[in-house]
Amino acid sequence: MHRFNEPAPMREELREWRIARLRIAFVPTMGNLHAGHISLIERARELADRVVASVFVNPTQFGPSEDYAAYPRTLERDAEFLKAAGTDVLFTPTIESIYPFGETEAWVDVPSLSGILCGAARPGHFRGVATVVARLFNHVAPDVAVFGEKDYQQLLLIRRMSADLGFPIEIVGAPTARDADGLALSSRNQYLSAAERLQASAIYRALQRVAAGVSAGEAIEALTAAALAELVGQGFRPDYLEVRSAESLQPPAPEETELVALAAAWLGRARLIDNLRFTRS
Ligand code: PAF
Repeated sequence: MHRFNEPAPMREELREWRIARLRIAFVPTMGNLHAGHISLIERARELADRVVASVFVNPTQFGPSEDYAAYPRTLERDAEFLKAAGTDVLFTPTIESIYPFGETEAWVDVPSLSGILCGAARPGHFRGVATVVARLFNHVAPDVAVFGEKDYQQLLLIRRMSADLGFPIEIVGAPTARDADGLALSSRNQYLSAAERLQASAIYRALQRVAAGVSAGEAIEALTAAALAELVGQGFRPDYLEVRSAESLQPPAPEETELVALAAAWLGRARLIDNLRFTRS
């Protein structure tokens, strides 16, 4: 596995691959990797001849009171994981190669998706995500990029951003990796105490109950209100738990069948997010 901090030498290596007509997949990450990230690399390997992963803790997607400074940075361990999973190139860009002037002026945003759900609770977060992913796409110029479905709103936002800006990149979602009790794997799970960890999968069970109820024809509002009350009763501080259109993330029209139940809730120091796609008949 070759490792690059600067885009120019990395682009040289990738140019050789393109001349050899090799298909390139890209998996951007913020590091502190777990089995969920490794499943993204495995998916990328199925989709392409070469895999590029990046590790960059992107400051612009953290709010002023969020955990940017404390975000776990485990680069050497991450590099071992990525190498073992079959990554060909690891890109660990310097902050200057992503933000050459420090403060950026040229933001990328998708307002219909960046202001709702997690975006309402984390103003500016998705603008930071769209901006950094666009810059990473420019540096790597992959044929395909793989993102986890756990961050469902992020996946839709990147798909829309990429299509609107004309990136010739296929955006692929990979299924959420879960622990045995259903908790979605996340770098932020490590903020949970042992007691909180035992409770944390309640969020996934709440989504399952809501999805089953909606599929059985029950009213969405009553189901989500009951699920929220239950989470609060168990010590969670929910930002939201909602059922939305799986395609647009807007409140679903009565005839819409492809839906997603999504939730974000604090448990102790950890903000947990999860979602479940389902079809109502
Ligand atoms: O999902 C993440 O880890 C980040 O939001 C991403 C896509 C790498 C952008 O910084």
